Amino acid sequence: MIKKGIILAGGTGSRMSPLTKAVNKQLLPLYDKPLIYYPLSVLLLAGIRNILIIVNKGQLSQFKKILPIKNNLGIKIQYKEQNKPGGLPEAFIIGEDFIGSDNIALILGDNFFYGQNLSTRLKNSVKLKSGAQVFLHPVNNPSLYGVATINKKNKIIKIVEKPKKTNSNLAITGMYFFDNRVISLSKTLKPSKRKELEIVDLLNKYRKKGNLKAEFIGRGGAWLDTGNIEDFYNTSNFVSAIENRQGLKIACLEEIAFNNHWINKKNIKEAINFYGNCNYSKYLKKFLV
Ligand code: DAU
Repeated sequence: MIKKGIILAGGTGSRMSPLTKAVNKQLLPLYDKPLIYYPLSVLLLAGIRNILIIVNKGQLSQFKKILPIKNNLGIKIQYKEQNKPGGLPEAFIIGEDFIGSDNIALILGDNFFYGQNLSTRLKNSVKLKSGAQVFLHPVNNPSLYGVATINKKNKIIKIVEKPKKTNSNLAITGMYFFDNRVISLSKTLKPSKRKELEIVDLLNKYRKKGNLKAEFIGRGGAWLDTGNIEDFYNTSNFVSAIENRQGLKIACLEEIAFNNHWINKKNIKEAINFYGNCNYSKYLKKFLV
């Protein structure tokens, strides 16, 4: 069972400059919460409560201010800094001590997932014992992502990062599950032309040994992009539409922790104090009755 997760929340956010000049992208508001709440909520839904957040050098205090303090979520959050964006697999090198001898989940700090069976799918994924697993999702613009080609048995036969041309529309989403070999395999990677260690190179190492599994978010699920400003606001509008229609919040961290029986009403009260007088607190008050 995978019990540890890493959120990779550094990066320059250059495609969203000047918004990201002073503030890290993952702290910008996606509708009513900072972007990082969404990937964090995905880890909580997977039942993962031991979490390492990797941030840019010098930005730690920004993250510590925004995330619920003390025991309000019943989880353990640690932080590490990345000197410069050297690529996604660096997460496993920076996180080596945190991972120890366990298997590990990685989610990118700017990825948004939503959908009916998401929790069930996540709970299945954390059962991974050996090898690696990715989630694939169809997109209109595959050349912006890591792309997987699968055969009729849903086996991944090819993976390419941002291909100019491809016959597959299956993007590799930013949520990955790995066995412990990921640390040593990441250390064998060489930087690509864009001077980064590439997640696709790491995945290809597993694929070549027949150890890479593809899962699907499914047609009823959403994996939305927050890459550029247009996509960011579209995703924000998506959250607004769903939340206002249903009266239910997406990525309310305390709600998930409460439903997981990790926190009690006292913790919810503390969270309300932490957030102050705002709509998020009003929503939390529902759990006190
Ligand atoms: O979103 C899924 C895609 O993420 C995958 O389909 C690609 O295979 C994968 O390479 C990645 O593509 P991007 O080019 O979109 O990744 P980007 O550089 O935008 O970084 C994604 C997140 O990870 C972002 O929140 C910043 C953070 N990051 C990135 C790098 C390279 C770090 O914290 N450190 C890093 O070194």
